[in-house]
Amino acid sequence: MRVAVTGGAGFIGSNLCEHLLATDGVQSIAIIDDLSNSQIENLDGLNVEFVEGTILDHDALDRTFDGADAVVHLAALGSVPRSVANPIASHAVNATGTVMVLEAARRHGNLHTIVAGSSSVYGANPTLPKHEDLATRPLSPYGGSKLATEAYALAWGASYGLPVLPFRFFNVFGPKQPAGHVYAAVIPAFVDSALRSEPVTVHGDGMQSRDFTYVGTVTAAITQAILDRTVSDAPVNLAFGSRITLLDALEELEGVLGHPVERNHIEPRAGDVRHSQADNSRLLELLPNVEAVSFIDGLTTTVDWMRTTHA
Ligand SMILES: NC(=O)c1ccc[n+]([C@@H]2O[C@H](COP(=O)([O-])OP(=O)(O)OC[C@H]3O[C@@H](n4cnc5c(N)ncnc54)[C@H](O)[C@@H]3O)[C@@H](O)[C@H]2O)c1
Repeated sequence: MRVAVTGGAGFIGSNLCEHLLATDGVQSIAIIDDLSNSQIENLDGLNVEFVEGTILDHDALDRTFDGADAVVHLAALGSVPRSVANPIASHAVNATGTVMVLEAARRHGNLHTIVAGSSSVYGANPTLPKHEDLATRPLSPYGGSKLATEAYALAWGASYGLPVLPFRFFNVFGPKQPAGHVYAAVIPAFVDSALRSEPVTVHGDGMQSRDFTYVGTVTAAITQAILDRTVSDAPVNLAFGSRITLLDALEELEGVLGHPVERNHIEPRAGDVRHSQADNSRLLELLPNVEAVSFIDGLTTTVDWMRTTHA
């Protein structure tokens, strides 16, 4: 089987390619990535075919999807604050880019297409845990654009019979997730500051909670879904309902590092949701054998990897 991965040089994408290459039944991987938010070094040592280009380019997508059996669509402009600062760019890549990808999947023989949606679509809906049938109330342009991502995938399934699987990811973390820049996700930002013996920045009181999911859990679920050709006519949460607060995550980090971590609380961020936790009954119906790596095991692996980048 040949798998095409959009955004394959990114954090989740490069981890996914590593996982796929170690999977029986996967012969080759083609990636399209414009490297706007990643480094080609993420693919060091991985035997993949790489098209440097944007998903907004019809021909570049055709080159990538040629001969593919399945598509994993991960390319997007991530980060809530980035989208608040530049909503049109987020819309172009995350919404229009998804339409371009779905059309390319259709041109290449209605390829099985897995797309990366986001828990950010629940936004202001306070109900916990988040079940997929809850009303979506995005709080940021990013959340709105990821709602478009999954909505377009479902529409291409209904209108053109494209076999799709729209996942909603919840705060994924792990090796290769970048830190040290203004749009960094919270776990790499915490680990990076702590390894530099600098205070970690906490937006608000730190009691906001997230359903952190280790990247290995996500790549295992996507891989299983590719092999099984799993499809869904509704979005599917990809998380395991293990919600913890940022302060609890910091405590776990102190345990892994073996020393206290200083905190610097600043104002809450616009567009951030307060609490997030997945109901994953739909995921377990579709992919009953997928198991979650625990937060502490994932954090330990992440810290080990980040130590190597600080060496
Ligand atoms: N990391 C998370 O916690 C999380 C949570 C929810 C959803 N997601 C979604 O998962 C997917 C992967 O996220 P990630 O954390 O690996 O992010 P990432 O930024 O590391 O990966 C995205 C990749 O897409 C590439 N890209 C951006 N614009 C592109 C374009 N126009 N054409 C081609 N490539 C382009 C980037 O260079 C990058 O390599 C995204 O769709 C994201 O919205 C991630």
